Amino acid sequence: MTLEDAVAALTNLDTAALRAQDNYYVHPWENLQKSGRQARTIITRSEGIHVYDSDGNKLIDGPAGMWCVNVGHGRREIADAIAEQALEMPYFSPWSEGTQPSGALAEKLAELSPGDLDHVFFATGGSTAVDSALRFAMFFNNYLGRPEKKHIISRHEAYHGSTYLSASCSGKAPDRIHLDLADDFVHLLPAPNPYRRPAGMSVEDFCDAKVADLENKIMELGPERVAAFIAEPILASGGVIVPPPGYQKRCLEVCRKHDVIYISDEVVTGFGRLGHFFASEPVFDIVPDIITCAKGLTSGYVPLGAVLISDRLYSQVSGEAAEGSVFANGFTYSGHPVACAAALKNIEIMEREDLMAHAREIGPYMQERLAELRDLPIVGDVRGEGLMACVECDTGREDPAAEALHTAIGSRIDAHCEALGLMVRPIVNMCVMSPPLVITKAQIDDLVGLLRQGIERATDDVRREGLWNG
Ligand SMILES: Cc1ncc(COP(=O)(O)O)c(C=O)c1O
Repeated sequence: MTLEDAVAALTNLDTAALRAQDNYYVHPWENLQKSGRQARTIITRSEGIHVYDSDGNKLIDGPAGMWCVNVGHGRREIADAIAEQALEMPYFSPWSEGTQPSGALAEKLAELSPGDLDHVFFATGGSTAVDSALRFAMFFNNYLGRPEKKHIISRHEAYHGSTYLSASCSGKAPDRIHLDLADDFVHLLPAPNPYRRPAGMSVEDFCDAKVADLENKIMELGPERVAAFIAEPILASGGVIVPPPGYQKRCLEVCRKHDVIYISDEVVTGFGRLGHFFASEPVFDIVPDIITCAKGLTSGYVPLGAVLISDRLYSQVSGEAAEGSVFANGFTYSGHPVACAAALKNIEIMEREDLMAHAREIGPYMQERLAELRDLPIVGDVRGEGLMACVECDTGREDPAAEALHTAIGSRIDAHCEALGLMVRPIVNMCVMSPPLVITKAQIDDLVGLLRQGIERATDDVRREGLWNG
């Protein structure tokens, strides 16, 4: 055995051993048919926009982990802030005492947020932030003596999380199979996806129709029974669905007209993906009643989520006269000092390096370059805004077998891109790109080049296998 062979054998053994361990881990969205027999790629190290697997392969991190590693991998400053806080004081109960990092972060978020969204509740991630926001909406109405005002309106193709309530507001059909959801008081509107609008309909008319969907649903249920409308400004996991221009603002107007709380779920769009700490006001011209955020808040270095509540709402259930007004919602790790210290350092880096300006400058370049992939026959749509984009493969088929074909295409793109050095992890047939904000133009060129090759190779496969003849 040569030295190279010995090293290779050792490396392979390492990967095999790591995979064996990993098979004890029930991953999110675990396919239980294959559970315990998976051969997942094991990521062992990362730096900048790259991750490395256990065989030493270097890959561009196209999705920034899970839309979250916004300042990029390998930031020693954040690691130091985490270590220092853990040594200084790792934890104390958020029920009765304050800590310096949680207070400082709450103040900072109030400063960064739009309008009067100055009251900050901390959660453990996006799902618990959404859950807390929805529970606050219910608490708010119960306290004000209108317990029937409880219904929540969300949209198909939305993703808001994996707790019972946030999952109930998530509208992706495959995610609803075999699970019980709060369908008695959560209602889903059709997705505002211009790409899927009826043939011959203008984008403006489509916008009118989607805004009307909201108002009609409120009228159908009765405004006195509707508590909240929850909406991602851009539906991220649904495939970066960018609603038609003006949609968010008009939906907010409808909500205000009918006294319905507007929750803007900025778990993905917040912290730089659209070139701003919060995108609601600068990009979509809305100051919602509540904003939820997570992911980029700590750039994924440690888990944290937050809910920002407007003073307009908060003042109605707080203050001297608010007898018995206790919002009985919280987590052991609400405002965790270590997570808040990480978030503060993360925000400091974003401000110091002006990553918002960088994202605003480079986002359109990524969109332009990705749009070139429209010339590939299997690519149906390329859409997005800022540093979030989706390349959707469209076979033109809508029959029952289409889903299996779309999954086959996505998994082949995934495998080819990974072999080429790009992490894609498509959502079925949709390749979502949301790289770390620090990405450069040259790196975007690399990313687009690799994605093109991956899609071309996958297209060859499905043609050769007789699955698609487009
Ligand atoms: C818009 C949105 N809201 C909420 C969540 C849930 O966040 P988490 O996975 O941190 O619980 C996600 C996760 O992808 C999301 O995209």
